[in-house]
Amino acid sequence: MHVDELVDSGIPTRVIEVLKDNGITKLYPPQRDAVYEGLLDLKESFVIAVPTASGKTLIAELLMVKSILDRGGKCLYIVPLRALANEKLEEFRKYEKLGIRVAISTGDYDSSDPWLTNYDIIITTSEKADSLLRHRSEWLGMVKVLVADEIHLINDAGRGPTLEVTIAKLRHLNPQLIVLGLSATIKNADEIASWLNAKLIKSEWRPVTLRKGVYFNGEILFDDSSIIEVEPLTNGELFNLALEPVKESGQSLVFVNTRASTERFALDISRISKKFISNSETKALKDIADEALNVLAEPTRICKRLSKCIECGSAFHHAGLAAEQRRIVEEAFKNNLIKVLSATPTLAAGVNLPARRVIIRDYKRYEPSLGQSHIPVLEIHQMCGRAGRPKYDEYGEAILVAKSFDERSFLLDNYILAEPEAIYSKLAMESVLRVHTLATIVTGFANTKQGLIDFFSKTFFSFQQDPWVLEGAIMKSLEFLMRESLLEEKGEYITPTPFGSRTSELYIDPVSAVILRNALFKARDRDTNEISYLQAIAGTPELGKMYLRKKDYDACLEFAYEHENYLLFGIPSEIIDPWNFEEFLSNLKTVMFFKDWIEEVSEEFLLKKYNLGPGDIHNKVELADWLLYSMAEIGKLFKIPKIREVLKLRVRVKHGIKEELLPLITLRGIGRARARRLFARGYRTLGDIRKADVKELSRVEMIGEKLAKSIKSQLEGKEEKVGIERQSRLADF
Ligand SMILES: Nc1ncnc2c1ncn2[C@@H]1O[C@H](COP(=O)(O)OP(=O)(O)OP(=O)(O)O)[C@@H](O)[C@H]1O
Ligand SMILES: [Mg+2]
Repeated sequence: MHVDELVDSGIPTRVIEVLKDNGITKLYPPQRDAVYEGLLDLKESFVIAVPTASGKTLIAELLMVKSILDRGGKCLYIVPLRALANEKLEEFRKYEKLGIRVAISTGDYDSSDPWLTNYDIIITTSEKADSLLRHRSEWLGMVKVLVADEIHLINDAGRGPTLEVTIAKLRHLNPQLIVLGLSATIKNADEIASWLNAKLIKSEWRPVTLRKGVYFNGEILFDDSSIIEVEPLTNGELFNLALEPVKESGQSLVFVNTRASTERFALDISRISKKFISNSETKALKDIADEALNVLAEPTRICKRLSKCIECGSAFHHAGLAAEQRRIVEEAFKNNLIKVLSATPTLAAGVNLPARRVIIRDYKRYEPSLGQSHIPVLEIHQMCGRAGRPKYDEYGEAILVAKSFDERSFLLDNYILAEPEAIYSKLAMESVLRVHTLATIVTGFANTKQGLIDFFSKTFFSFQQDPWVLEGAIMKSLEFLMRESLLEEKGEYITPTPFGSRTSELYIDPVSAVILRNALFKARDRDTNEISYLQAIAGTPELGKMYLRKKDYDACLEFAYEHENYLLFGIPSEIIDPWNFEEFLSNLKTVMFFKDWIEEVSEEFLLKKYNLGPGDIHNKVELADWLLYSMAEIGKLFKIPKIREVLKLRVRVKHGIKEELLPLITLRGIGRARARRLFARGYRTLGDIRKADVKELSRVEMIGEKLAKSIKSQLEGKEEKVGIERQSRLADF
């Protein structure tokens, strides 16, 4: 179907021109089917369950643009990952010339983001959408189209329930809401469609041929039974597989199951990949390598490793990297500068990358409670689907790697030729329902037991499985929430307490809120220091447990004895209470990590001692920052006079600094490393810096003239608001 024909479905020519300007002249068959089935009549919801790379996003774009132009209102586009949100933002920007305003909202969970009222398309994650619902953002009532990208992730135990409940709430809020669920091909897409009362579009069509096969012993056996030999360029079989496309100016993406493996592979292959880069590429890669190295003021081993790989045309990608490094790597891969990229499966969801060949080395991975487990077919297919993307390649290949002849047959039957599994809701776990039960009452979606049951009967879980399972778990959650005074019963009505309301808005687990509240009550009447508050947040489910190695036991216990006077929760008996004892020590490991961090130990040291890379540190710091903020908010609610201590610690944790650096950190452009350099040169207060001139300041290590000038103008109040805001926030210190 030519895009010009979209006029018949009410798409204005100026929209069609935008599509053409972006190289889209014909609709793909699944896109055409959706249009023929009435997608653009704006009367019905749809579920699209089609292969990877088959253009699901464009279906959403057509629907959103039509809805906005015809009847105003907003469209909410929910994605699973922040990185994907950015990719969508770039894609949707093409409609800005039509006056359609596109925004992204992923951060700060304690805000209703009123500024979003001015936007038409809002891209967000399911967690952020959930938090916006809790803040009763007024503009949510104006949402007319909800797109749930990667809706099959309802199956995910960690994040699926939030997606599912968010969809149910938005539908409840606006019964006319049109939902568009974009799904991978799954066995029970019809169930999702029935749940949403939606039309289902299914297809096996893919715009770019994707051949799938298994490699063993020098050859690839493809799903059409053809066999090709892999040229033995080197002695390493995986290298040969990865480099074959590179020889013909293609690129390879290699999925492995651990972060360490991504690094080892990229380093290993860098010795050979460098032979495949041209002179002009060498120069560009050198610049990118420097950029990746200098993302941190003091580069760690991982940064150096990454930079070394990039120089040679290879790279690795995993959650331990800083977000900026991941972005740099993705961009360099998209620009065909990095030839071989090794990654953990986090890169598998929805992104468009120019991988002509995807290689999946591992089909097993370690699961905390199950040990080594087989990766589901659905996920393997998602990884395969990163190969052969329309923008980049004319064909794609996805290859699993077998270590024996038998394994080759196994992989062929159980992955390559297998149908992806059905998906199941994971809502009926008490830990999950606790959170959503509270939020449902707080936001007024229900105010009685029956009301709760009725609300949850609209979820995918109730549609799919026995509702009584859910009822039992809801009642248990209610008991907990009432016992801990987050909710109270008044006759047949259930109402939130101020503590319950604030907990829900703060977007923390009710269990965490209870831990933080109890810690604050304990803190009220005794001497406390940073260890006290760090111990409180370390016990929350959000921060999770740090893995205790044998040698950690003694170190953590020593640490506990040393700081015993400041611990809010005492040392349990190893003999009487072994389970709590272990949990206590594991929490203390988290405390030790944060203590090291705010004592300014280097990231390199943290990497060695705790095996945490810059990305992990960032994640932990972000969570701790949020929990300390929440703790201060709960403290305000209960009028506990220790809030200043908590807030001070919050700033220290945020920046990883000792108390003495608090004044310097208020300056924009000054992080922990630079603040320390200034301090060491005698600039201890803002007053000291005021007295110095630009020349003197720029002589301080890591400062330089540009930053020195910026610091001076911040202090003279000439510059930007940021510095001033930061200062007023921190004026107390
Ligand atoms: N009709 C079309 N003509 C040309 N290119 C198209 C068309 N529709 C989509 N594309 C391009 O195809 C690529 C893949 O599309 P998209 O990202 O929407 O795939 P998807 O179905 O969401 O895949 P995944 O399951 O991997 O998320 C994009 O680069 C997009 O610009
Ligand atoms: Mg997609």
